[in-house]
Amino acid sequence: MSEAVEPAAGYDGPRLAASGSVRVRVPAKINLHLGVGPRRPDGFHELTTVYQAISLYDELTADRADRLELVVEGEGADVLPTDENNLAVRAAVLLADHLGVPPRVRLHLRKQIPLAGGLAGGSADAAAALVACDALWDGGLDRNELATLAADLGSDVPFLVPGGTALGTGRGEVLSPVLAVGTWHWVVAVADGGLSTPTVYAKLDALRDAGTVPAEGVGAPDELLAALRQHDPRVLAAALANDMQAAALALRPTLARTLDAGLAEGALAALVSGSGPSCLFLAADADHAASVAARLTTHGVCRTVRTAHGPVPGARTTP
Ligand code: C5P
Repeated sequence: MSEAVEPAAGYDGPRLAASGSVRVRVPAKINLHLGVGPRRPDGFHELTTVYQAISLYDELTADRADRLELVVEGEGADVLPTDENNLAVRAAVLLADHLGVPPRVRLHLRKQIPLAGGLAGGSADAAAALVACDALWDGGLDRNELATLAADLGSDVPFLVPGGTALGTGRGEVLSPVLAVGTWHWVVAVADGGLSTPTVYAKLDALRDAGTVPAEGVGAPDELLAALRQHDPRVLAAALANDMQAAALALRPTLARTLDAGLAEGALAALVSGSGPSCLFLAADADHAASVAARLTTHGVCRTVRTAHGPVPGARTTP
């Protein structure tokens, strides 16, 4: 067990949790609807998006330590930064500042969410770090306070605190609940290599400026929200929409083969996940997802194929 952390001199805020390590499981997110509006003066784009948290997870363990340290294992362990360029480290520092405690914690991250894949893996780790460190440091922040800190870390970090299914507006950080019935089954095709989110947004702007894609985009998610209130995968399939898809395909034309392969193997719908390059396929049920996934694997159009269901809860402590 690491040495206990002493509160800073004169500190009389929340005390450190009495014992042990804190383990948090956090899901990936997908966008069932991703409507991208114009670029704002602050450089972000106005979004209307419907997020869903799905059952691909990273796991973060926070232990007391005498300094801030991050160890990564799993997906991307060889390339991910472990300093303040890692969003989980930034989250721990931000929370420590907010609570007025020293940022002393050993974070151990077991990654399964693919990197730079349009699945918000880095944002998920930031949400996990907020929840884990708040418990370790006995911060006692409620979900709204955590979501406010989360918005400082990234546009989709706030969603990964509650998870489930939610409408995101603003730059994606303003959340409203969505009524969603039942569980949906997804196949996720993970591409080789990532795509940079700002590059995909910039490509979309360029395609719109050139008139290659319509500037108005997919608009409001009314059809999608109605589909989520019934439980018919075919209705949902027809309502899925992503403005980023054209830009991701322009940057990575081979993704069209991945999307086509999933449809050829019977998926009800195919779309790029967020800014890509992961591709998503909707299945009728868990068995259908397993069979689409197995057959998609044989096409050689992606690095790996996973199945997942959603919605699932956001960042949560686990025993
Ligand atoms: O908020 P986050 O750090 O995840 O955003 C990463 C980048 O994606 C931003 O710097 C911006 O270039 C782009 N972005 C955007 N509009 C949004 C969200 C992100 O242009 N609503």
